[in-house]
Amino acid sequence: MTGTRPSSLPDYHFYGRRKGRALSAHMKQLLSTELPRLSVDKAALTSAPLASQFDSHKDALFLEIGFGGGEHLAQLAAGNPQAGFIGAEPFINGVASLVRQIDEHKLSNIRIWSDDVRPLLEVMEPGCLDGVYVMFPDPWPKRRHAYRRILSQKMLDSLARLVAPGGFLRMASDHPIAKTWLLAEAMRHPAFEWRAETAADWRRRPENWPETRYMAKGTREGRASSWFDFARR
Ligand SMILES: C[S@@+](CC[C@H](N)C(=O)[O-])C[C@H]1O[C@@H](n2cnc3c(N)ncnc32)[C@H](O)[C@@H]1O
Repeated sequence: MTGTRPSSLPDYHFYGRRKGRALSAHMKQLLSTELPRLSVDKAALTSAPLASQFDSHKDALFLEIGFGGGEHLAQLAAGNPQAGFIGAEPFINGVASLVRQIDEHKLSNIRIWSDDVRPLLEVMEPGCLDGVYVMFPDPWPKRRHAYRRILSQKMLDSLARLVAPGGFLRMASDHPIAKTWLLAEAMRHPAFEWRAETAADWRRRPENWPETRYMAKGTREGRASSWFDFARR
């Protein structure tokens, strides 16, 4: 245990949805048989390195915050079998969708945190991550709800502690208010540096960033997405 890691998980209030439509019998069955095996081991979290969550050695470790239906995470994991991926998502229907993809594609390099990511961040050891993805976060566009937005200076402080120097923070959004806020928050944090050199760098989806469900929805509805790639200094 390092001095900066609490020994138990703190509580947070989560403002999003934890449940949607009733799950099919197949999904319920998958969740009950597979989720325990695929879940982050809470007991090991506070005492052992994050890498010990995986059955075999991993060259790099990545976190996706709010993976939604899990399409982006599953594709990343399939394309990078030597890397380990932690996905955090409290919406159980999204978790079930990711479990189905893991099962279908026989992925062995994803561990699921089916809850609010914030307590998880507090107990992971410093410098344990090579990169973090925050894709199409809930925009909470009303000013009075701004405190609910997932990216804040407090969140960036946590990510600065967890992402090793040279690692990345990748974010995307199709919502004008969320785009401005993601960019402004990350730009004013001293630990992160925006890598974009030309407008094409944030207007075009980088080849190695898979599509997400919300990106596809935004495109169908005529909203352009932006892609923000920050380096941990
Ligand atoms: C707008 S959806 C985007 C989902 C997905 N990334 C995509 O692009 O399709 C935002 C997701 O973030 C999740 N989320 C919100 N707050 C979170 C938190 N504190 N920890 C983990 N996930 C969170 C929500 O449950 C939701 O699934």
